[in-house]
Amino acid sequence: MSLTDRWRIALDELRGQGRYRSLRLPAGHDFTSNDYLGYGTLSPSPLKGECPLSPSPLKGEGWGGGDGDRNPLNLLPAPHPNPPPQGGRELGHSGLSSRLLRGHHAVWDEVETALAEWHGAEAVLMLNSGFTANEGLISTIVEPGDWVATDELNHACIVEGLRVCRPRKFVFRHNDLNHLEEGLKAEAAKRPPGRELFVVTESLFSMDGDRAPLRDIVELAERYGAQVIVDEAHSTGCYGPRGSGIVDELGLRSRVLATVHTGGKALGVCGAYVCGSTLLRDYLVNRCRHLIFTTALPPAIGAWWLDMLPQVQADDAARTRLHSNARTMHAILAERGLRVFGDSYIVPVVLGEDPQAVRVSRALGERGFDVRAIRPPSVPQGTARLRVSIHADHPPELVRELAEAVASCAMS
Ligand SMILES: Cc1ncc(COP(=O)(O)O)c(C=O)c1O
Repeated sequence: MSLTDRWRIALDELRGQGRYRSLRLPAGHDFTSNDYLGYGTLSPSPLKGECPLSPSPLKGEGWGGGDGDRNPLNLLPAPHPNPPPQGGRELGHSGLSSRLLRGHHAVWDEVETALAEWHGAEAVLMLNSGFTANEGLISTIVEPGDWVATDELNHACIVEGLRVCRPRKFVFRHNDLNHLEEGLKAEAAKRPPGRELFVVTESLFSMDGDRAPLRDIVELAERYGAQVIVDEAHSTGCYGPRGSGIVDELGLRSRVLATVHTGGKALGVCGAYVCGSTLLRDYLVNRCRHLIFTTALPPAIGAWWLDMLPQVQADDAARTRLHSNARTMHAILAERGLRVFGDSYIVPVVLGEDPQAVRVSRALGERGFDVRAIRPPSVPQGTARLRVSIHADHPPELVRELAEAVASCAMS
């Protein structure tokens, strides 16, 4: 049985039991949400005038808030018939309840459609954070009999997802294709029917700043019948056509099962999403506890996504500055003989023992640079480091100054 058959059968079973769920827009007097005191639909919103949202032409039903004063008893009919003229500024500041109850909102349909279009994917499902999206996706689709190969440096939320669903796990050495193939080959040879194989990796590693050999990983996975999940937390916005990430840059979209993207990093918003097939989205809506049993993100955040997305898509200039600053940083550190991984804007300067990393971080602080020391368990023992996060809006001169300061503090 294929993975898609597994999902179809599960969804058909739910339909048969009358338990199939789909996201519905709020309609009618609200006896559903958890907005017990009415503060969630306070109008005007406390965000008004402060929320960094520009007017966004939102359509559809389900506008939060009322048409004037506070409406603590929620007696106004919803959906509100007249969307407020300021668009995003008037969108609700509370998620109100789970998206499966009254927390769904027209703005999320728009956001998900826009994001799916960005990636050229069938579907997107918003979740509350990247941590939740990875843990929720993995723990929902991986079953205890399945087998998962996971890079040893994968983020804690991937580790958590695997802990929850308890598959047989194969932790492969960081970016080591030979080791990954060893695991896949051994597992594929004894694979019983119905057991799924997965490979999970980040595309740009959060603490090492290096890229996974994604093309090779996908080829290996295809050879041994495994499904690939890619966490694009640190690459979203910064790589690929219109910034949609490394999977899209490499043209691998149709060859991976799912990607996970977070808004809290380069996109400058909050929340996260899973990108994949319509069937996967449907399955998650019905099965993912991290969607079903938590309060939705506030609709105002959805307006923020709509505001941000076209700007990020068009901003090749920022991407160019970002990568150029990263090259400057790497070049100077290499010239000064420092040990650095990768070639991205995440620049890990590995210093070894914890006290050395803390000392150099403090010394940089005294020179006006906020660069934090990263120590175990965030990174392996003996690889305490500075994690320099380069930005597009750092003036190149400042990047050069920092690189020289890192070199001099690390060597002293
Ligand atoms: C690789 C990776 N995945 C996922 C996350 C979680 O994303 P969020 O901060 O949106 O929860 C992080 C955050 O640090 C991360 O580094």
